Amino acid sequence: MKLLSNLILTVLGTPVVLWHGMGDNCCHSFSMGAVSKMIQKKIPTVEYVKSLMIGDSEGSDTSNGFLMPVFQQLDLACQQIQADPALQNGYHAVGFSQGGQFLRALAQTCPSPPMKNLISIGGQQQGIFGFPKCPDGSSICEYVRKMLNWGAYTSFIQSRLVQAQYWHDPLQEETYKEYSQFIGVVNNEHEFNQTYKDNLLKLENLVLVKFEKDSMVVPKESSHFGYYSPGQDAEILPYDQTELYTEDRIGLKTLDTAGKLHFFTFAGDHLRFTDEEFTENLAQFLA
Ligand SMILES: *[C@@H]1O[C@H](CO)[C@@H](O)[C@H](O)[C@H]1NC(C)=O
Repeated sequence: MKLLSNLILTVLGTPVVLWHGMGDNCCHSFSMGAVSKMIQKKIPTVEYVKSLMIGDSEGSDTSNGFLMPVFQQLDLACQQIQADPALQNGYHAVGFSQGGQFLRALAQTCPSPPMKNLISIGGQQQGIFGFPKCPDGSSICEYVRKMLNWGAYTSFIQSRLVQAQYWHDPLQEETYKEYSQFIGVVNNEHEFNQTYKDNLLKLENLVLVKFEKDSMVVPKESSHFGYYSPGQDAEILPYDQTELYTEDRIGLKTLDTAGKLHFFTFAGDHLRFTDEEFTENLAQFLA
């Protein structure tokens, strides 16, 4: 049986795991459903695409994207991947918006089966400082916006709201490092966890896509691991001038030196891309 499944996997090529963005869920026909079909159609070697569902229904998947602490979501994602026979020889991963940093954290915390290539599309890899708008007037989202402005680093809000867990206030860099319950942790800002770095270095390629006219991600450079220079919120440091990179805290510099770190900039607003932009630039990492 094991032999047979190995044979099938060899024939089918590497499967792909998707993680949707905020306000979305695993299975909408116009979002992850469409992306999943597009990948299968345009990249014929990809026969199997799994879109992660966090929770036991599409509705709870959407609300968990606002309300379930990220480390709990990572546990659920890891369990689903470990239980899926089609993924046991490894997989490529594609994350959209916050799904980009969640999959990156999954690579750091769930090394088996192996994630091979990771594509983060419009992710917030250094967090966000600003929450300009909510998708389609979602009321949970409006509530989250108010709470972030009220006090993102209070333990009440950190432990309950996903977006607070990747809130990165450059005017309170020390508070961020101390109290962030997700992005500061996986970026090794709070205490240094060698396992997070060792696991990220297992990726074959880390591919980061930024949107030139992104009106959701503030600052948009966060999609490329760039961020505000600490202490102010005007000057942006490119990824290779941040301490995260220069101190190689999670292995970015090592990946870069090895030619495994790739940057793309798409022209449009947040998550607005054509099938052609996707395939011309990214298909090479999924084939
Ligand atoms: C470091 O990361 C590993 C992998 O996720 C985890 O099991 C471990 O608990 C972490 N250590 C600390 C001190 O947080």
